[in-house]
Amino acid sequence: MANIIDVKDLEYSYAEQKAPALQHVSFQVEQGSWVAVIGHNGSGKSTLAKNMLGLLEPAAGTIKISGMELSEETVWQIRARVGIVFQNPDSQFVGATVADDVAFGLENREVPRPEMLERVEAALKAVGMQEYANREPAHLSGGQKQRVAIAGVVAQQPDIIILDEATSMLDPAGRKEIIALIRELKAKLNLTVVSITHDLDEAALADQIIVLDSGKVVETGTPATIFARGSAMAKFGLDVPYSERVKEDLTAAGLPMPNTYMSEEGLVDYLWTLRSTM
Ligand SMILES: Nc1ncnc2c1ncn2[C@@H]1O[C@H](COP(=O)(O)OP(=O)(O)OP(=O)(O)O)[C@@H](O)[C@H]1O
Ligand SMILES: [Mg+2]
Repeated sequence: MANIIDVKDLEYSYAEQKAPALQHVSFQVEQGSWVAVIGHNGSGKSTLAKNMLGLLEPAAGTIKISGMELSEETVWQIRARVGIVFQNPDSQFVGATVADDVAFGLENREVPRPEMLERVEAALKAVGMQEYANREPAHLSGGQKQRVAIAGVVAQQPDIIILDEATSMLDPAGRKEIIALIRELKAKLNLTVVSITHDLDEAALADQIIVLDSGKVVETGTPATIFARGSAMAKFGLDVPYSERVKEDLTAAGLPMPNTYMSEEGLVDYLWTLRSTM
């Protein structure tokens, strides 16, 4: 599979900060895969996302999207291919109605009106919000707002969607719904997903996890290999998932535990099954 994202030796420093926010950041993402970027507060995750969209200009290094190097000349082409959903939906609404809001990015790209209306309707349908087209975005629930923000991205027909803690302001049920929606859209639209998250159950769904610490990539691997490094994760300020800690204790106590990552629910199911065979 081809790499749709290829970041090499990326460096970025904010003017007023001494330490660089990103240092020698290199990684690749396969087309059609799901990658989670994790790391403690201030480790450089949002800075990385902003560099990938050309919202910040790197001091050094290269970012290639579908083989095209990000530069002043290509930034608009690249932004048409990469959509982003931020943490706080309120700060990303610009339209008076839900439909206007979803249309906004297309108006900027001078998409002809009939096509625009079609794309907006299809995008709202894809996220299950078509009945809200004429509502005011401000009056929606947090989860509905994120659905509208996702519709705005879907309407652009991008290849890549970046979620910068897009579920972190939602309750657990709302998070699950949004993640299920993204998985569905990913399959249907053949998207590549970059999910920046503190939610380790969300990260566990990824094909690949990238761990950032003080602006550096300190680990990359599958969720199973990353989560298996219990104490190393703690070193990077990351919680070892509760289910992993329980699993370690049960393994130490001699129970036959699988070495793949399990969510709390998965672990409970496994333990019930195990009990029925004892
Ligand atoms: N606009 C800015 N001006 C100056 N420094 C900034 C700015 N934005 C971020 N920083 C600094 O750059 C570093 C990386 O910040 P960034 O927002 O990328 O972290 P993050 O991993 O997204 O954190 P969080 O999990 O809290 O969202 C931090 O030290 C932060 O203080
Ligand atoms: Mg951030």
